[in-house]
Amino acid sequence: MPESGAKQITFKVQRYDPEPGSTPHSQEFNVPSSRGMTMLDGLIYIKENLDSTLTFRTSCRMGICGSCGMLVNSYPHLACHTQIEEFHSDTLTIKPLPNLPIIKDLVVDLTPMFNNHKSMKPYIIRHDTEEMDSPTAEFVQRPEELATFLQFTYCIKCGLCVSACPTSGSDKLFPGPQALAQCYRYCADSRDGGGQERLSLVSTDHGVWHCHLAGACSEACPKGVDPALAIQLLKRRLASQALGLRKKPSPSPVVSPPTETKPKIPFPEFTA
Ligand code: SF4
Ligand code: FES
Repeated sequence: MPESGAKQITFKVQRYDPEPGSTPHSQEFNVPSSRGMTMLDGLIYIKENLDSTLTFRTSCRMGICGSCGMLVNSYPHLACHTQIEEFHSDTLTIKPLPNLPIIKDLVVDLTPMFNNHKSMKPYIIRHDTEEMDSPTAEFVQRPEELATFLQFTYCIKCGLCVSACPTSGSDKLFPGPQALAQCYRYCADSRDGGGQERLSLVSTDHGVWHCHLAGACSEACPKGVDPALAIQLLKRRLASQALGLRKKPSPSPVVSPPTETKPKIPFPEFTA
């Protein structure tokens, strides 16, 4: 709850009702803002005190679930992860994320992004089906192998990169930076054997070659993922394969975990 004597900030929020005949329009709200208040706190203040019909999506309130993406002053942000005072402004313009269909007010339909994500087969593919169906041991992965794709696993599927991408805005068949980063994440996983299947999905006119390397996706990402890098690494894989410079790697073998067990450290007893 804002403190008394808090600074008044004008939230100019884009409203849109899916009812026929409704057009997007802007509505202003005065929000008392105090130190540490996030954009999401401001929107919750509006909903609880000024207009309960204002619609936005939120869940974790800690930058983990990826639900609260929106445009603030024309730039994509996670509302729960962005403090009002970061903008040094008395007026903030809040709109839904572009490049995705609007459901209502600030809520966009993320289905196109999730469909693109699913189309990249975002799981480990192995051809040793017996081992996959009845696992006997573990697929080996060294720390340096994990390091080749670790940053891409931090994606929370918030869609900020998709909304920032000029190619996603102009080509509906482009899978978008989120899906392409996940394509690379699984291709680079040393346990995976499905690289060829995925590379053929993205080596099209609407695939990686349509990325203009604007870099807006990586700039917008709130989790430090670099989708623009992933797309360039996919291009490099495709180019080296076409030039015969890249051998088809075999997925990592199955190896039993070490049998030697370390002596257990006794749990310290609690004393009051
Ligand atoms: S890559 Fe970053 S911006 Fe894009 S969906 Fe994942 S977390 Fe969000
Ligand atoms: S509410 Fe979960 S990321 Fe903002």
